[in-house]
Amino acid sequence: MPVSQENLFSAAINARRYAHAPYSKFLVGAAVEDLSGRIHTGCNIENATYGLTVCAERVAVWKAMSEGVRTFVRMAIAADTEQLTPPCGACRQILWEFCGDIEILLVNPQGKSESHQLKDLFPRAFDASYL
Ligand code: THU
Repeated sequence: MPVSQENLFSAAINARRYAHAPYSKFLVGAAVEDLSGRIHTGCNIENATYGLTVCAERVAVWKAMSEGVRTFVRMAIAADTEQLTPPCGACRQILWEFCGDIEILLVNPQGKSESHQLKDLFPRAFDASYL
């Protein structure tokens, strides 16, 4: 059964609580819905080398895939910014590879939200079709 948009938003906002972001102090949560209506959450996890930091979006996708999930429907991304926080370039590439052209919902704890299709955020993507 598909989950409500409100539940997906709450899951992403709640996931921010577990962010490990001692360097940037920028807390991000993500919640991805799979085909069966299950929600998988992620938060950003930083590292002292900075470059090994993993974004919330990738943590959510890796968690789901490591439990056998292969089909995704939409993802909500939450950060406490007035201008809603979009996924970084690396995450767009990963989302394209594993989720395809899903709906990306950006949200903040004040209740502002936006909906985008990944193909619009990440046009002319390189993917396996070129190999
Ligand atoms: N970050 C995410 O987790 N997702 C985004 O969409 C943007 C950036 C994280 C990475 C890093 O821990 C912090 O936010 C600042 O860049």
